[in-house]
Amino acid sequence: MTTAPDRERVAQRLQRSSARNSYDPEVDIDWSAPIPADRYAKPPQRCSLYGTRMWEELTEPERIRLSQQEVVSSVSSGIWFELILMQGLVRHVYNSDPTSEHAQYALTEIADECRHSTMFGKAIAKMYGKPIGPSRVSRRAGRVFGALAGPTLIFAGALFVEELADGMQREIMRDDTLQPLSRMVSRIHVTEEARHISYAKDELVRACAGLSRFQRANLKLWLAAMAYTATQEFIHPKTYATVGLDPRVAWRVAKDNPHWQATKIQWVRKAVALFEELDLIDGPGRRLWLAAGLLER
Ligand SMILES: [Fe+2]
Ligand SMILES: [Fe+2]
Repeated sequence: MTTAPDRERVAQRLQRSSARNSYDPEVDIDWSAPIPADRYAKPPQRCSLYGTRMWEELTEPERIRLSQQEVVSSVSSGIWFELILMQGLVRHVYNSDPTSEHAQYALTEIADECRHSTMFGKAIAKMYGKPIGPSRVSRRAGRVFGALAGPTLIFAGALFVEELADGMQREIMRDDTLQPLSRMVSRIHVTEEARHISYAKDELVRACAGLSRFQRANLKLWLAAMAYTATQEFIHPKTYATVGLDPRVAWRVAKDNPHWQATKIQWVRKAVALFEELDLIDGPGRRLWLAAGLLER
């Protein structure tokens, strides 16, 4: 199997960067440190209910707890998605030349994701004790998606989810008023995901240039469904029940909250701009992007 030289150069650069700058969350995080009860896990203005009457009615400790459970829910869906991505990457390597830098970087990315999912699992255990989400329907859909999705859809989906998480985690890692555990988990993830984003972007741009009309239409629809599902799962309704709110009512309040809508649009804007440039957001799938609140109206 031949591999394009520029594809190899990208993979080689990412391999070198991985060797220089990677973390081992087992030793790079102090898992025995207590979590301060008076610090938010993510900036309050980035909580899904911020600015609503429901938020105003919560006490300060409840708001802090909600910020933490929202992070728990987001990293719970993060594990779900990383497991799907790993399956796709393993199948991708299975069909690639293992002597290529490209295949070797894919293996490095799988190794990164293994550590991330372990780190998220430990963070969830420490912060709340158990995962919050994803829903049973999404877990089932993920099983099919992980087993069947081709590399182009896997890279497009990865890019979307990685940009969404990156948007949130960059803000968390930079804010020194927040919980140290949430900040360190975010720092590790942002650093290593920056390479995954470059890799996925490079692959997606290359793959899109060779798509037939049918393949492009198919990709648009599946990508829209994936983006919709991943966004729905980013904060599971059960999160709200942990501070005594009615999950369905609170979920609706968050969905209609202009602060939260603007936050989601801001966090995914880089992925959406690329998808627009590559003509991957229109047709029937566009409705799903709009329903997920990911496009400016
Ligand atoms: Fe990750
Ligand atoms: Fe990743």
